[in-house]
Amino acid sequence: MGEQGEHHADYAHFDGLQREEALQLLLDSYAALAADQDNWVCNLANASSLLWHAYRSLPLDVNWAGFYISRTENKQELLLGPFQGKVACQTIRAGSGVCGAAAQTKETQVVPDVNKFPGHIACDGETKSEIVVPILSDAGECLGVIDIDCLEYNGFGETDKKHLEELANLISRTCKF
Ligand code: SME
Repeated sequence: MGEQGEHHADYAHFDGLQREEALQLLLDSYAALAADQDNWVCNLANASSLLWHAYRSLPLDVNWAGFYISRTENKQELLLGPFQGKVACQTIRAGSGVCGAAAQTKETQVVPDVNKFPGHIACDGETKSEIVVPILSDAGECLGVIDIDCLEYNGFGETDKKHLEELANLISRTCKF
């Protein structure tokens, strides 16, 4: 453990922070945890916990935070990875839903109202808005996506996009997939 405390669980303390501060702490915490670890399951398991605790500390009803990973044997399909929240769809076909769109276009998808996104996949019918950020390799290949869902409309904006894209970069640099 670094300066933040004696226990790994201390990394989950985000209470009282503004969104920008919470997301910056999330990035710093991920970087510290991944400094000596390159296993993607291990790093994304802790990253999903950090995402969950950071977002749940805000006045925002986030109901799902986690990852879909490009299958090594079939890059066209995304497979459910580490996450926090309710049980979710296990596979997502190429180009399907918000996750598939992010993987295919390699661009972050900020969706203020999922009902208006053609082909949105409703793993949870209560979800109202969503952000999906692609994780790209140095060669520009999509390794997977970060997906965060919210029970409110307009849950995510530029601050989330900026910090989550930074997290995607960090993940790409620190994980062996
Ligand atoms: N809504 C996503 C599917 C994943 S779940 O939200 C966890 C989509 O449309 O790709």
